[in-house]
Amino acid sequence: MIPESFIQELLGRVDIVDVVERYISLRKAGANYSACCPFHSEKTPSFTVSPSKQFYHCFGCGAHGSAIGFVMQYAGLGFIDAVEELARNAGMQVPQVSDRIHSDRAKKAPLTELMARAARFYKDQLKASPKAIDYLKGRGLTGEVAARFGLGYAPDEWQGLQQIFPDYADPALLECGLVIENDQGRRYDRFRDRVMFPILDQRGNVIGFGGRFIGDHKAAQAENAAAGPKYLNSPETPLFEKGRELYGLTQARQGIRDGDQVIVVEGYMDVVALAQHGVTNAVATLGTACTPHHVHKLLRQASKVVFCFDGDAAGRKAAWRALEASLEQLTDDRSVGFLFLPPEHDPDSFVRAEGADSFRQLAAHPTTLTEFLLRELKSHTDLASAEGRARLVHEAKPFLQKLAAPILRVQLSKALAEAAALTQAEVEAQCGIKPLARGRAPTARSPRNRTVERSLEYALLEPVLQKPVRAARIPLDRLSAETREGALLHAIANAVDHGELPAGGIGMLIEFFRGTPHEALISTLAATLFEEDSDAGELEAVFIDAVERLKAKDLTKEIAALGAALGEKARLGTITEDELKQLRELHARKAKAQKTPAAD
Ligand code: UTP
Ligand code: MN
Repeated sequence: MIPESFIQELLGRVDIVDVVERYISLRKAGANYSACCPFHSEKTPSFTVSPSKQFYHCFGCGAHGSAIGFVMQYAGLGFIDAVEELARNAGMQVPQVSDRIHSDRAKKAPLTELMARAARFYKDQLKASPKAIDYLKGRGLTGEVAARFGLGYAPDEWQGLQQIFPDYADPALLECGLVIENDQGRRYDRFRDRVMFPILDQRGNVIGFGGRFIGDHKAAQAENAAAGPKYLNSPETPLFEKGRELYGLTQARQGIRDGDQVIVVEGYMDVVALAQHGVTNAVATLGTACTPHHVHKLLRQASKVVFCFDGDAAGRKAAWRALEASLEQLTDDRSVGFLFLPPEHDPDSFVRAEGADSFRQLAAHPTTLTEFLLRELKSHTDLASAEGRARLVHEAKPFLQKLAAPILRVQLSKALAEAAALTQAEVEAQCGIKPLARGRAPTARSPRNRTVERSLEYALLEPVLQKPVRAARIPLDRLSAETREGALLHAIANAVDHGELPAGGIGMLIEFFRGTPHEALISTLAATLFEEDSDAGELEAVFIDAVERLKAKDLTKEIAALGAALGEKARLGTITEDELKQLRELHARKAKAQKTPAAD
């Protein structure tokens, strides 16, 4: 863990305007700065950075966050990496990033260095290998694209790497998977006589390789069983975790951003061939099924993810795995689609045969996740029978429950209801799905009398987010901490109380609550607040009003309770003067609470 105090210090030191300007150029527009949004494609600028709030927000796509959030989103980094990046630029030293990660890093550094040297070596070897060059040319690749992906050639020698690693016995060579040791303790290169595809992490470090057999693999295998696999991959190493990495992401970043879409394919060659034809937003999973980690990463890069799998049975199975991995990652502002190519094609052969425009056309109109899901489930149930329709809902239930996007979930239950000849309410009840809450979320640019429209908690939250010290004025004993909003208000008040919340705009608040259950709510509210851009005076009025309503609401309850308790006594004539006084006082307090503005 990075200490919270360091995050605060860092955010206090950096200015979000400088940070964003490091990556894109901004224009001053009133109190804020604006630009065309780097996270979606647009012609007129709707991306805004507020120096006073230390917050960025795009009115077009809704992207928003603090300076740390921006670096995470723009560079695709995790939280710790983003903090380190910002700290480095600010000349600050991140204090003990947990011992584990620290020693992990220290351990990884020499391995990364070895991998980089190996990649350079393979690249140089390619230049000297007419056989490998011919193979790549034969697959339609130019030198430019080969360079873009750092393609190389592992020479046909048992210890080729000894040329660049004189200490061939170095245990690190084994650890990063470049060499193999046999039972007799003899060492040799893992990759021999193969075209090499380096696999990069998000920072551009080489973390693994895929090596393709040169030539017709099927024929070679028929002839010689020892030909090895078509693609030989690096093993899992401290650097390389297959379930998390995506091939080609570094090269695809710009293409993904331009179209706000990322295409996921199955093979190395698919990625490279698509790029060769100008489709630069493709990445591949590494010979493994698509995992939730993958989907999570993908959805951070673009709002549209399209899985494009081969048209065969294996491709269909892979697509289904991808669907399963997507359900829990999906939100209503993102989409996951599926593109099924004709059975004889993979993306590489398709783009070569039909061209980039045809491919793009297909990718622009993929089968949606819900279409695919329903189609598959329906395909093995007989909807003409009551039993079949019941089975459909039964089988859909776990998927419906997993789907994390609430609005889409309702859409899906609607579609299911239609197919199963049930009402939507029946489907939702059977599947244990709560219907969408009505009118809870604040709408952007709502009318000014929002105290009437919104829940008390919302009326309190916006002013508090704008100025957290206000939380100290909320009578917390009257505010339930059971709702999400109530819990957040309690948490903010608590932090203010302990002097933990420094001034620093909403960006600071977002970071303060990152990783807590409050994170999602605060982030949504921050964006709303930004869109409405209420002036400070108005929010103060909203806040005072809400505090009064909170006090009055509670008094009403108290009066009712006391009235009920005293009613019986009054009838029997046993009520005491003290008790009457108590009741009078409550009424007076309630009247006062409703009339006078708060003194504080
Ligand atoms: P494919 O067999 O579909 O190959 O494997 P491909 O991508 O079309 O490759 P080319 O066009 O014949 O060169 C798809 C992916 O599965 C993994 C690789 O990541 C490959 O890109 N794979 C395949 C392996 O890891 N090992 C293998 O032996 C085969
Ligand atoms: Mn292929």
